[in-house]
Amino acid sequence: MDRYERLTDKQAGNNAISLASVNVLSDVTPFIVVLAGSLYVIDGSLTLGSLIAFFAYVDRMRSPVAALVQAFPAITEGSVALQRLFEFLNTPTTIKEIDRPIELKEFQDSIRFSGVSFSYDNRDEVVKDLSFTLKKGKTYAFVGGSGGGKSTILQLLTRMYDADRGEIIIDGVNIKDYSLSSLRDKMGIVTQDNFLFSSSVRDNIRMAKLDATDDEVIAAAKKAFAHDFICALPNGYDTEVGERGVKLSGGQKQRIALARVFLKDPALILLDEATSALDNESEKLVQESIRQIDRDKTVIMIAHRLSTVLHADTILSSKTGGSSNAATIRAC
Ligand SMILES: Nc1ncnc2c1ncn2[C@@H]1O[C@H](COP(=O)(O)OP(=O)(O)OP(=O)(O)O)[C@@H](O)[C@H]1O
Ligand SMILES: [Mg+2]
Repeated sequence: MDRYERLTDKQAGNNAISLASVNVLSDVTPFIVVLAGSLYVIDGSLTLGSLIAFFAYVDRMRSPVAALVQAFPAITEGSVALQRLFEFLNTPTTIKEIDRPIELKEFQDSIRFSGVSFSYDNRDEVVKDLSFTLKKGKTYAFVGGSGGGKSTILQLLTRMYDADRGEIIIDGVNIKDYSLSSLRDKMGIVTQDNFLFSSSVRDNIRMAKLDATDDEVIAAAKKAFAHDFICALPNGYDTEVGERGVKLSGGQKQRIALARVFLKDPALILLDEATSALDNESEKLVQESIRQIDRDKTVIMIAHRLSTVLHADTILSSKTGGSSNAATIRAC
């Protein structure tokens, strides 16, 4: 931090010196031109007209040169940012598609975890020999203590990471054989840390379905009980949010993420503590709207508290060592 402060100070000093030098130079130049030019005019080697024309050109060049110098710090900062961006984009990802992936056209029947084990650091297994089957059209709840590996299960299902051992099978096919886009296209997820882009609320919801009409965006927001707080924002649906805009609370971000899911209307809905950041009243409302999700959808809900998922068809718990579906999420 000290080093950052020192370097920033140094950079600000350099910028100030270069700007001041350019300003002094650009103020002094006309005098030098007039003075030196007059000497040439007097000894007859330059006409007065040429001197006036030259002076006019020098004067016109002053502001573009000053603007260029002023823009220099922004250009260097921008090029560093661009370099970082390319480094990020070039980071090799461990998740790879097979050569000729299959398109998952429609989720039809089941998701099966078969002996799945996974560790983030090749040491501690977060998910250990996990097996269960989820049927289409049912609502499942994963309940368990913090750090038990619940979110990791969703990371594996969405192929943010691949299992070290075992298989995840959707409709009889290993998820590694599907194209990533067709796999993720069937899923809508509300995570514990929902990300908003620096854009309007409307765009942030619409990213789930780019060709959605404004009416569809609003209908999805209403379903997620986000409409009222959005309307209370300074510019309603056009309010800028994210890094440079209005900062939304965790509960508001959750409801935007839920609105995205309702707009996308995917076959598989993954809700990771989707109501944890809400106050009691909003939680009840959002729970109600989750409960009304169409019966043909398959829902996986993750919760710390059993009370929020009592309506689920099957509850898989790490404390009890699994339900009849034989889920064994690592006990805490
Ligand atoms: N990206 C990661 N890199 C390394 N370790 C991780 C990462 N994500 C999670 N872990 C570790 O894996 C374990 C399981 O984490 P996970 O997020 O799946 O738990 P959880 O059951 O969702 O917990 P919570 O209820 O608090 O959300 C934890 O010990 C956590 O520290
Ligand atoms: Mg979690």
